[in-house]
Amino acid sequence: MSGRLDGKVAIITGGASGLGAAQAMLFAREGAKTIIADRDRKAGETLADSIVASGGTAEYGMLDVTDETSWATLVSSVVERHGALHILSNTAGIIHPAATVDESVEGWNRIVAVNQTGVFLGMRAVIPHMAAQGGGAIVNVSSLLGLIGFSGMIAYSATKGAIRIMTKAAAMEAVKQGIRINAIIPGPMKTPIQVNVPPEVDAWQRSRIPMGDLGEPEDIAYGALYLASDQAKYVTGTELIIDGGWSVTT
Ligand SMILES: NC(=O)c1ccc[n+]([C@@H]2O[C@H](COP(=O)([O-])OP(=O)(O)OC[C@H]3O[C@@H](n4cnc5c(N)ncnc54)[C@H](O)[C@@H]3O)[C@@H](O)[C@H]2O)c1
Repeated sequence: MSGRLDGKVAIITGGASGLGAAQAMLFAREGAKTIIADRDRKAGETLADSIVASGGTAEYGMLDVTDETSWATLVSSVVERHGALHILSNTAGIIHPAATVDESVEGWNRIVAVNQTGVFLGMRAVIPHMAAQGGGAIVNVSSLLGLIGFSGMIAYSATKGAIRIMTKAAAMEAVKQGIRINAIIPGPMKTPIQVNVPPEVDAWQRSRIPMGDLGEPEDIAYGALYLASDQAKYVTGTELIIDGGWSVTT
């Protein structure tokens, strides 16, 4: 049976856990050579082994998304060994709660470095390779907190809003090179990142979701699969909201 990503080489940052891991498993099932790029070597290698054991093609690649040398090392080794790079999913991200008046400069800089600078460095690292081979697809993972106003997450919200406009700006820069760049906007999903959410916020967010529950990581993976695949060949600079209907309500 043919897969939707047959013959594609895909890097997924944050691929060792949560939404990135769900994409790694699905992309591999759909025929991609999947590179699980993450700073967590143990979890990344364990996931790659389990994908290979179930018949997929996957490998772990050490990556700190905040570090440009780390990006250069990973991308050149992937291109050298696989001869191409078709897909980048920028999924790595961190969160901590802090309102504007409580956030430290150190905390602000930490979130910006991973969530925002990491996406910039990723796009910058792969676009020349994708352009040289005639095209590619980039998926950037934003958040509902980058779409509507929430209190208590100033730095995280700032980075996730930035990812949305970075996606559109970069999409316009790269469109003539056959590179499509799109964003996914997840609502709350059942992943380890949610352990940082205080219980009262968890209860509140469940009460706000029209579908009544947090989403599954696969719900995001299927959206990323579409945007990364050739079925989305006419789609660039757009945003796919996957949030159980939250953003539709007032
Ligand atoms: N889970 C949600 O409710 C939710 C909602 C909206 C958006 N998101 C976004 O989805 C993305 C994934 O979230 P998740 O829930 O899967 O989180 P997660 O904590 O389960 O996974 C994040 C992964 O990113 C990796 N990572 C963190 N910093 C890194 C760095 N500097 N370099 C390389 N890897 C790094 C971690 O090791 C981890 O494997 C994040 O960008 C997050 O902001 C999540």
